[in-house]
Amino acid sequence: MKKVIVGGNWKMNKNVQEAQTLARQLCDRLSDVNFADIFICPPFVDLYPINIILREKESKIMLGAQNMHYEPKGAFTGEISADMIKSAGGKIVVLGHSERRHIFGEDDEYINKKVASALKNELIPLLCIGELLEERKAGKTEEVIESQLRGSLNGIEIDDPEKILIAYEPVWAIGTGITATPEQAQEAQKFVRKVLADMFGQSIADGIRILYGGSVKPDNAEALISQPEVDGLFVGGASLDAESFEKIVRATK
Ligand code: 13P
Repeated sequence: MKKVIVGGNWKMNKNVQEAQTLARQLCDRLSDVNFADIFICPPFVDLYPINIILREKESKIMLGAQNMHYEPKGAFTGEISADMIKSAGGKIVVLGHSERRHIFGEDDEYINKKVASALKNELIPLLCIGELLEERKAGKTEEVIESQLRGSLNGIEIDDPEKILIAYEPVWAIGTGITATPEQAQEAQKFVRKVLADMFGQSIADGIRILYGGSVKPDNAEALISQPEVDGLFVGGASLDAESFEKIVRATK
């Protein structure tokens, strides 16, 4: 039985002081939780200060970064490397988030290099995939998901399903308040697993945790996590408040 995993993507929110406050609140509120793995992905500058708090509080909450460059170092102004994330306490790195794809123009080939670099550096890539509303309306959801998976994971070898996470995040559900229905999440994630099985074999695919993301809130978390193919939740807006994130985590029990 896979353990449920719930993550918060803080996006470009919380300065260092605000981030420290929220991290302390989460440590206190979630200290008893052992039914789910929990991670938070704050902005880069907040990683190390939060890591200190997580260690002080002996918290099991894991730290993730929201992006990285694939090169180990060099003249890449504005970028940070896998090693930098690890040295700040990061265990997970979000790659290919729809905001990176659609606002910053990242494509599968570019994301693929980042996935390879994360794995090489023993960071867990959380690969995000998902279709636009036009694509869903045109009946292209599966085609888009499959090409994102095959493109972003091209040439990647996975010998242990715990070394990677996948998030299905339909773009039309992100930040819009429109959640995919539990059935839509189930159907898409079943298809994600089918593609993963074709790429890596059934037993690896069965072991990979696939998260749903897109307007997850305290009142829809339970219905989403009840779907057999939904192994976790990736929360944006509702992870910025300790009470609402706690409610979502507890709804997965
Ligand atoms: P919202 O929960 O704000 O829709 O964001 C989801 C998301 O993008 C998580 O990565």
